[in-house]
Amino acid sequence: MHLLSTLRVMLSLTGVICAKYTVFTDPSSASENQTSIATSIINGAVTGTDYYPFISQLYITENNGFSYNFICTAELIGQQHIITAAHCVSDDNMKLRSPSLYRLNIGSATLATVNDISKFYTVTNIYGAGFATSFANDVVILKLNKPVPSSVATPVKIYPYKITTSLPVEVAGFGSTYYGGPVSKTLLRTIINVSDSPNCAAFNTDWANNSGPLVCSISPSGNDSCNGDSGGPLVAKLNGKRVLVGTVSWGENMDTSSTINCGANNVSYYVRTAYFVKWIASVMNVNYNTLIEIAN
Ligand SMILES: *[C@@H]1O[C@H](CO)[C@@H](O)[C@H](O)[C@H]1NC(C)=O
Ligand SMILES: *[C@@H]1O[C@H](CO)[C@@H](O)[C@H](O)[C@H]1NC(C)=O
Ligand SMILES: *[C@@H]1O[C@H](CO)[C@@H](O)[C@H](O)[C@H]1NC(C)=O
Ligand SMILES: *[C@@H]1O[C@H](CO)[C@@H](O)[C@H](O)[C@H]1NC(C)=O
Ligand SMILES: *[C@@H]1O[C@H](CO)[C@@H](O)[C@H](O)[C@H]1NC(C)=O
Repeated sequence: MHLLSTLRVMLSLTGVICAKYTVFTDPSSASENQTSIATSIINGAVTGTDYYPFISQLYITENNGFSYNFICTAELIGQQHIITAAHCVSDDNMKLRSPSLYRLNIGSATLATVNDISKFYTVTNIYGAGFATSFANDVVILKLNKPVPSSVATPVKIYPYKITTSLPVEVAGFGSTYYGGPVSKTLLRTIINVSDSPNCAAFNTDWANNSGPLVCSISPSGNDSCNGDSGGPLVAKLNGKRVLVGTVSWGENMDTSSTINCGANNVSYYVRTAYFVKWIASVMNVNYNTLIEIAN
């Protein structure tokens, strides 16, 4: 990990890659360093592109294209646009890094192998919402080198309604099944609780309620997102499909003496996508009405 230890918040960003998953362009190096299959997001169930037809994986190019490291989960949000967390594509000073470093594996519920490299999309632009000025703006839109055909993936629509603690929500990703653990080779999903506990504000001055830029979650069962899930989808069901409530940002243990930052009664924050919808529409150059799902 490459984050400043003085920044406690950054340390607990769920995108920090302790778990390493690398795709090598040379197949003979491949098997050795690809992590073995673990079972989850914490307490997750295996899921697929039937539920998550927009799911995508973000990789960073290493060694001049000799290998690609999985860093975050991401979603197709328009034919040629991806949404993910800003911290996934930012440097230690919270500045956006070069688009040329990134690759996307789109519409697959399993992490890429060497055979998928030829299908990777590249990134031509990264649009930020002001992460360097506030952790609450932990969202970016990536423009792809070409449109994604509907046979590969379907863009996710945004959930535009009020987020209450009774709204059933689920989070999905390829992240660790326990803090510090390896990433999951298969997409996992888990049911979590939206929270409006005073702890949500106590652990994050950017959170006042679930109608602002962030949604708070605290789940006593232990169901949670973790490292590698960053940028991944927090969804609710609307009109029979999964629509985007938010994207995984960061979380921490309410016992601040602990360095384990995911799990039961840990507090997690998601960037609320609808809060940013007009900004997203402007960078995609579409009307925001085309991005949201209206209840039938
Ligand atoms: C696998 O990872 C280890 C530790 O990072 C490294 O020393 C080794 O060279 C890697 N193996 C291959 C085949 O790249
Ligand atoms: C936790 O998530 C799992 C997997 O999605 C689900 O089966 C289980 O019901 C969830 N637990 C609670 C208490 O909702
Ligand atoms: C949420 O918090 C913001 C900022 O403090 C406040 O302006 C807004 O009225 C609150 N909204 C609700 C629905 O409570
Ligand atoms: C959500 O909260 C309810 C009520 O406290 C609890 O029964 C349930 O297990 C919680 N769900 C999760 C995923 O922790
Ligand atoms: C946070 O989750 C970890 C397990 O990953 C657990 O050990 C810890 O007790 C949890 N924190 C709180 C405040 O319950």
